[in-house]
Amino acid sequence: MSLMRTHNCGELRADHAGQDVSLCGWVANWRDHGGLVFLDLRDRFGITQITFDPEECGADVTALAQKARNEWCLGVAGKVALRGEGLENPKLATGKIEVRGLKLTVFSSCPTPPFELAEAEKVAEDKRLEYRFLDLRRTKLQDTLKVRSDVMKIMRDVLVGEEGFLDIETPILTRATPEGARDFIVPSRLMPGSFYALPQSPQLFKQILMVGGCDRYMQLAKCFRDEDPRADRVPEFTQLDIELSFVDADEVIRVAERVVREIWKQVLDKDVPDPIPHMSYDEAMRRFGTDRPDLRFGMELHDVTELGKKTDFKVFANAPAVKCIVVPGGASMTRKQTDALADWAKGFGAGGMPVTKVEGGTLATGLAKFLEPIAAELISTTGAADGDLIAFAADKPKLVNKVLGELRLKLAKDLEMEPSSDFAWVWIDEWPAFKYDEDKDTLTYSHHPFTMVNDDQVEALLDAAKAGDRDKLLSIKTKAYDIVCNGYELGGGSIRIHDIGLQRAVLTALGVDEQRQQENFGFLLKALEYGAPPHGGLAFGFDRLVMMLRDTENIRDVIAFPKTQTGVDLLCEAPAPVDDAQLAEANIKVATEPAAPKSAVKSLDELVGK
Ligand code: AMO
Repeated sequence: MSLMRTHNCGELRADHAGQDVSLCGWVANWRDHGGLVFLDLRDRFGITQITFDPEECGADVTALAQKARNEWCLGVAGKVALRGEGLENPKLATGKIEVRGLKLTVFSSCPTPPFELAEAEKVAEDKRLEYRFLDLRRTKLQDTLKVRSDVMKIMRDVLVGEEGFLDIETPILTRATPEGARDFIVPSRLMPGSFYALPQSPQLFKQILMVGGCDRYMQLAKCFRDEDPRADRVPEFTQLDIELSFVDADEVIRVAERVVREIWKQVLDKDVPDPIPHMSYDEAMRRFGTDRPDLRFGMELHDVTELGKKTDFKVFANAPAVKCIVVPGGASMTRKQTDALADWAKGFGAGGMPVTKVEGGTLATGLAKFLEPIAAELISTTGAADGDLIAFAADKPKLVNKVLGELRLKLAKDLEMEPSSDFAWVWIDEWPAFKYDEDKDTLTYSHHPFTMVNDDQVEALLDAAKAGDRDKLLSIKTKAYDIVCNGYELGGGSIRIHDIGLQRAVLTALGVDEQRQQENFGFLLKALEYGAPPHGGLAFGFDRLVMMLRDTENIRDVIAFPKTQTGVDLLCEAPAPVDDAQLAEANIKVATEPAAPKSAVKSLDELVGK
């Protein structure tokens, strides 16, 4: 049989009946009904039922069809026939027809797969990643890859096609950029002892593109960060990276919103609010305890520090911060459940989680007797009603926000609360320029050190930087903005500093002396001296965006070949030791025994089923 397909496996309909066709695909299912063989043939586009009847195709073809098993790769030629009443499958787009097979070619057989594709969701993720070539055949993953591809096209259509952006590639072998995470480094053979770093993002290059007059840049950029993976974080990910010259934050935000609006419309047929509302960083922290609030649920944080001081309850009276959330209907939680919350809170370093319930217009159980003097005020400040639970955290402000911010999300999930909408969008802006790092007793940057501060605070920044006035520095706000959807930070960006003097002052305020400024960012600083335009931009986490579109909480579900939680690619077994000759060539001496990943693919023979 020729390899030319006439149709794909999702294409044939009743009006194709009578046509001679040929299809290629994988066996999704097979049945042998007393000599009559049924095969469901699957490809990326759908499934078509094929029947082999010895009276039509002969004994040899039927015998071959009888041998075929799940995941064999076949080519079939035959005639389209209506299935007839009662035999149609309304769940399949091709369910009104079948192909009466006349010829069959086995392109490849397949050993019994390590898991049934239909049952893959129940299989350990490691197994699926090891056999990713099988897992990828599943409709769900195929659909996800299609969405990724569609979204990339929409991004280019909007930005390059309509908004005047240039799609420009920046280097993968580059030097370390200070973005906060650890770099992956690559030894240089030609310059022994020197290393490239893989980009954590194209930040400095895109700024230099602006100095280079490129005006509007976009890239679907691969980024690498050697940080511990999480459900929404992987060491190797993709950004939609953009940068624009001669713009203010409003223009960057307009373009970014246009991109998401177009994607949500085309992929999900959903409207994204126009405009997306803004919330300041301070407000987000105060009301939700986090800079990426999930606004689909209420349960806002109430600051009751002052109230706490009016009680004899030492935990509250002595704590630097006391906050609480009201859990609607939470009074029905059992003692066991609230004790479990206390244990959970201890996992964050909190002492526990004091709770009380509202009954008959006042506080009952738990802390009630300690809180008697403030019961009425607490109920009116928090708006708690009968049947609600009030959960508290009392500690340093950072920990209090962390625990209650996480508690909102946990309870929304555990109590299966109804979200107020499918997607809740918000821009978080007015970010502080600096954060105080308690452990190191230094200032670090909130975003990155190239972020422009608010115009009316430039002088204050320069003065504070000169005087080393930490408190004043901590009060400086920037032109940075993060786009948050359902509690996920989907993207972030800022207007940048294009003034060399100001850039140096910010670096100095961060404790980066002149020598290190030159070593680390010399090339950016040099560029800023040569007529830098005002500019700004943003990067979307492309994989996170696709997570939203595909409604999954696991970033690995939306990446064709993802790495595990420990950063291992189970399919190709990376990272892996390299041989001594390669090490010598790269001028590398390994100080420890290599920790190779567990052998994932047993043998090549097993892989190809020989
Ligand atoms: P930032 O570091 O905020 O900004 O990254 C932008 C977006 O990239 C996504 N992201 C990740 N996704 C998956 N795995 C990771 N490890 C990971 N890290 C980040 C997030 C995030 O919002 N250069 C700046 C952007 C700019 O200022 O223009 C930057 O990289 O969705």
